[in-house]
Amino acid sequence: MPMLHDRFWDLHDVAVLFCFTVYVCHLARAISIQYPQQGLTRSVQEDVFFSVDVSCNGTPTVQWTFVSSSVSRAIGTWRPGAFTNITADYSGRVEAHSNGSMGLSDLRLQDAGYYVVTVTDETGSSKDAGFALKVNEVLYEDLQYLSVSALALACLAGLLMLTMWLLDKVYRKIVAWKRRKQMPENDATELQPL
Ligand SMILES: *[C@@H]1O[C@H](CO)[C@@H](O)[C@H](O)[C@H]1NC(C)=O
Ligand SMILES: *[C@@H]1O[C@H](CO)[C@@H](O)[C@H](O)[C@H]1NC(C)=O
Repeated sequence: MPMLHDRFWDLHDVAVLFCFTVYVCHLARAISIQYPQQGLTRSVQEDVFFSVDVSCNGTPTVQWTFVSSSVSRAIGTWRPGAFTNITADYSGRVEAHSNGSMGLSDLRLQDAGYYVVTVTDETGSSKDAGFALKVNEVLYEDLQYLSVSALALACLAGLLMLTMWLLDKVYRKIVAWKRRKQMPENDATELQPL
């Protein structure tokens, strides 16, 4: 009876160990996508960097897709050390990094939307993560710049007017002083006979 009991527990332990090993192996094979930030805001003409760190069993294949309410288009696919395939629409604007990160430069208003990264391992399993990008118009900054310029111009105009007014005052003072300087001489000549 104790023998049987021991054996039962042995089998149980083996089963648990087996499950645990399978679980750990699964974890080791699991695809992971790590990212510090999921929502980004940029202005037109600026650059954006979707920072991720992907890992899986073997070399991952990274694929980025743009998704908005109206379209879904492929941006590029790459496998570190093997190939980099950037779609014609994005050529020259996309920078592919081996950790899966993607840099997108010269942003346009139409670039606002969702960016999905799909990581596929060698067995074909995949995992994805999404990022939201907001693109602001530069118009607001232009207006701000204009208002600042207008304010600077107004200040300059005010300063010029103040200077002219002061110069005018000084000129009048000088003229008055010159007149007064001439008067005593006249007085003196007039007073001399006395
Ligand atoms: C991925 O690599 C780039 C440089 O190649 C680095 O700037 C970025 O921080 C990395 N991202 C993460 C999440 O580690
Ligand atoms: C690159 O992508 C395009 C379209 O997504 C595809 O037609 C082409 O075969 C790809 N090239 C390589 C080398 O994978």
